[in-house]
Amino acid sequence: MYQLNINNLSHSEFLEKYWQKKPLLIKAGFENFQDPISAEELAGLAMEENIESRIITNQDDKWDAHHGPFEDFSLLKPTHSTLLVQAVDHWHPEAAEILEAFRFIPNWRIDDLMISFSSPKGGVGPHLDQYDVFIIQGEGKRHWRVGMPQPKLKEVIPCNSLLQIENFEACIDVVLEPGDILYIPPSCPHEGYAVENAINYSVGFRAPNQTDMLSSFADHLIDNELGKRRYSDPQLQLRDSIGEIQEDELSNIQNLLLDVIKDKDSLKTWLGRTMSEAKHELDVAPIEDKYTCDDIIDLISQEDINFVRIGGLRALYQVNRDSIIFSYQGENTIFPLEMLQSIQLLTDYSFITSDQLKSSINFSLFIETLTKIINEGYWYVE
Ligand code: SIN
Ligand code: CO
Repeated sequence: MYQLNINNLSHSEFLEKYWQKKPLLIKAGFENFQDPISAEELAGLAMEENIESRIITNQDDKWDAHHGPFEDFSLLKPTHSTLLVQAVDHWHPEAAEILEAFRFIPNWRIDDLMISFSSPKGGVGPHLDQYDVFIIQGEGKRHWRVGMPQPKLKEVIPCNSLLQIENFEACIDVVLEPGDILYIPPSCPHEGYAVENAINYSVGFRAPNQTDMLSSFADHLIDNELGKRRYSDPQLQLRDSIGEIQEDELSNIQNLLLDVIKDKDSLKTWLGRTMSEAKHELDVAPIEDKYTCDDIIDLISQEDINFVRIGGLRALYQVNRDSIIFSYQGENTIFPLEMLQSIQLLTDYSFITSDQLKSSINFSLFIETLTKIINEGYWYVE
């Protein structure tokens, strides 16, 4: 268990004062921090085809970026090099535990755990991220500079697939030690260079933009044959100039578009599907010898049985007037409201005990769903 101490602030004080507002240095955010993963294990993950990884080097002021999977690590030099591996929480349960400390922020906003290893002077250069990030210092030390959003930062592309910015003014300038954490809101410039071999853990967040959402919602409308209402104008009047699209016609079109978004049922169905889909592959192992609902009831009836959610699975719910939409891995299931507490066990916890599940034992739809997701390999019995 990683215990997060945000400079003695409560979670709500942190949200009020810093979240999406200003960067924060959290000294000893994790006291006595022990790395859950070694540089060698990280390199092992970077050799896998289905895991996204990069090596960035900055030898002699020349930047280079290489994409994994890597067969060997000859590119990773004793200095000026960084290996970055995305979504390690999907593959490494011990590393995934770091995310638990940040679960005071809603599930759907948390994205993944990226882990980097840098040799001395290694880093990815000055840059901006579109998302909030907590950067935790594991083994080693790294010198970080972080600034507030600055209007005229010039972007530079020092090599293919690396976007950096020119010099920025820093409000935090610090050498992080194991267990120290930086919170960096979106668009705050930052750069970090290892002082000695260093491992860093980045807890990243999701914040879809309008284009992403509109395009994904349009796909949802197409797939479900929705949004077919056409523009109509039974009150059309004769006009002097036929070349103009008039202001009231623009308003009619705007309203026609808004109507599809105002349909909350459709919006919620889409939102549950899209927000519960992981961006990176999951380490799912469907069960060969399938459990029956009675097997699961039997397990719940016992003491000391644990049910564990696999790393990276996104489980969410939305409440309707008389039902709940439960979503995981892009799939929605509708439950009656009386099952809210049972559903919350699947969404609000990554680990549940048979004792916590005992009061749900008579909800047959819930037991069917739990059996299904265990058989699919999204939760496992310990
Ligand atoms: C890193 O760990 O090298 C990159 C973290 C970041 O700046 O986003
Ligand atoms: Co960054």
